[in-house]
Amino acid sequence: MYQDIREVVFTQGDIRAAVARLGIQISRDYQDRDLVLVSVLRGGAFFVTDLARAIPAYLSLDFMAISRYGPRARGEKGVRILKDLDEDILGKDVILVEDIIDTGLTCAYLVRILNERSPRSLKVCCLLDRRERRLVNLPLAYVGFKVSDAFLVGYGLDYREMYRNLPFIGLLTDGARERLSPSSTTPTGQGSR
Ligand code: PRP
Repeated sequence: MYQDIREVVFTQGDIRAAVARLGIQISRDYQDRDLVLVSVLRGGAFFVTDLARAIPAYLSLDFMAISRYGPRARGEKGVRILKDLDEDILGKDVILVEDIIDTGLTCAYLVRILNERSPRSLKVCCLLDRRERRLVNLPLAYVGFKVSDAFLVGYGLDYREMYRNLPFIGLLTDGARERLSPSSTTPTGQGSR
């Protein structure tokens, strides 16, 4: 698997430092609050579990899973909830935790439906912010790194469901992309990443 990476963009150390920094910021901002970290399967699971361990305070974790149909441009019309939260967030302080925000459409949709449940507060935390691709205005309270428009894998980010388990974030070789991308099929998820 490692031979498929042509460049490491963020090392394990970079990621660890960013997660620690975000954990400190969140800990300060949410002292004595009823904090819930909400993450989106699958990619976000890696980041949120590390982030939770970097926050030395009471908190709970909850997960959603969504599926998308067709291109991102369909926006919310193409999103369906496959797994909803297990807990009620009414009156809670919620942070929506994402591994990467591109167009912002997924996050904007989730922010809208979570706000309808009347949390006490709702903010967004993402490890990677790829603003170049943004299609909607989305305030981000906590950002690990700003990234350019390159195809990234690792630390939760996949290509055709592979490479999520890389402990760093990097760029795939063209050869690996071609090998995993039969021309007869269309990439799913963040395949356009
Ligand atoms: C990624 C990421 C966000 C979304 C961001 O998920 O985890 O949920 O894409 O893209 P957007 O800002 O353009 O909406 P992906 O669809 O790759 O699924 P995954 O979490 O299973 O990898």
